Amino acid sequence: MKKIGSIPVPKEALLLAPMEDVSDQAFRTLCKEAGADFVYTEFVSSDALIRQIPKSLQKMHYREMERPFGIQLYGNDVDVMAEAADIASSQNPDIIDLNFGCPVKKIANRGGGSGMLRDLPKLLEITKTIIKRVPQPVTVKTRLGWDEKELVVVELAEALQDIGVQALTVHGRTREQMYTGEADWSLIGKIKENPRMHIPVFGNGDVTSPKRAREYFDRYGVDGIMIGRGAIGNPSIFRFIRHYLEMGEELPALTVLEQIDQMKRFIEHSIPLKGLPGAVLHARRHLANNFKSLPNFRNLRIQMLRASSQEELWQVFDEIALRYGV
Ligand SMILES: Cc1cc2nc3c(=O)[nH]c(=O)nc-3n(C[C@H](O)[C@H](O)[C@H](O)COP(=O)(O)O)c2cc1C
Repeated sequence: MKKIGSIPVPKEALLLAPMEDVSDQAFRTLCKEAGADFVYTEFVSSDALIRQIPKSLQKMHYREMERPFGIQLYGNDVDVMAEAADIASSQNPDIIDLNFGCPVKKIANRGGGSGMLRDLPKLLEITKTIIKRVPQPVTVKTRLGWDEKELVVVELAEALQDIGVQALTVHGRTREQMYTGEADWSLIGKIKENPRMHIPVFGNGDVTSPKRAREYFDRYGVDGIMIGRGAIGNPSIFRFIRHYLEMGEELPALTVLEQIDQMKRFIEHSIPLKGLPGAVLHARRHLANNFKSLPNFRNLRIQMLRASSQEELWQVFDEIALRYGV
C-alpha cells in the first residue's frame, strides 16, 4: 500500500479538494463522514500567517475526526513560506500541502500559486526548504503548466519526488485555462506511466459522478481522485463514488428529504464557526446545488437563496418538504 509519510493511502483514494471559502471545518466534517479519505483546508496565505492574522489562523482549526488532515499554504517567498510552514506545522496536521496551482490573477501574477510554475527553481527551493523544516510529510498540488506551451508537470513530478515530496495532486488544466474547457488528464496518466514515480499521484478536475471516477481510475491509473466542485452542496458524493467503486452499481440519488437533512446538518455544523446569520448566508453556494431537478421550483429556490435567518430558511425547507417530500 502506498503511503504519505506513515499515512496509508487506501486503494482508489478519494480526496476533498482545498477550496477557498468552501473547504471549511463544517464542510470537511460532512465530507469526511461521507467517506472522504483525505481532507485539506482551503489555501492559507503564508503572508497572513506570519502576521498572525486571526482569520488565517482560524482556517487551520480542525477536529480530530478529520484526520488525515492537511493544511494548504500558498505564497511566493522562501523565508515567508518557511516561517508559515512552522506555524502550520505547530497545529499538528498530518500533512502540509503546498499550492502551486491557484490561477487567480492577484496571486499568480505575483508568483504565488500557479505563478510558481514560471519559476521552477524557486518552486523547488521553497518545497525543499519546507520539507527540511517540518516533521510532517509535504505534498504539492499543481496544474499541468502555465499554458499549453509550457506543460512542465511530467518532469516537475519527478523533480518534486526527488527532493522528498510525498504525494502530488495534479489538476488537469493549465493556469491559462483557469476553469474553462474540460480537464485533460492525459499528462496525469503520463506521470503514472513513468516507472521512476513511486509517490502517490492524485488526479483532479471535473470528476462529478461515480461513473467518471471509475472511468478515470481505470484509464489513468491514479492512486486517488480529488474532488472539488462536485462536492459543493453534495458532500455525499464521496459515499456515492465509494459505493460505485466497490459494488459496481449506483446508489439511488438522495431524496428531497435527505437533501434537506444534509443541508440542515451542514448549517448546524457551521453555526459554531460562523454564527447566525453567517452560517445561513454561507450555505447559499451549497444550497444552490440542491433540488436541481424539481419541477416548478423557481420561486421556492429564490426564497431559499434569499433567506437571511435560520427560521426563514427552515420554513422554506418545510415548504419544500411539504410539496416535494413524498
Ligand atoms: C470555489 C473554489 C475555490 C478553490 N480554492 C482552492 C484553494 O484554496 N486551493 C487549491 O489548491 N485549489 C483551489 N481550487 C481548485 C480546486 O481545488 C480544484 O483543483 C478545481 O476546482 C478542479 O477540481 P474540480 O473539477 O473537481 O472542481 C478552488 C476551486 C473552487 C471552485
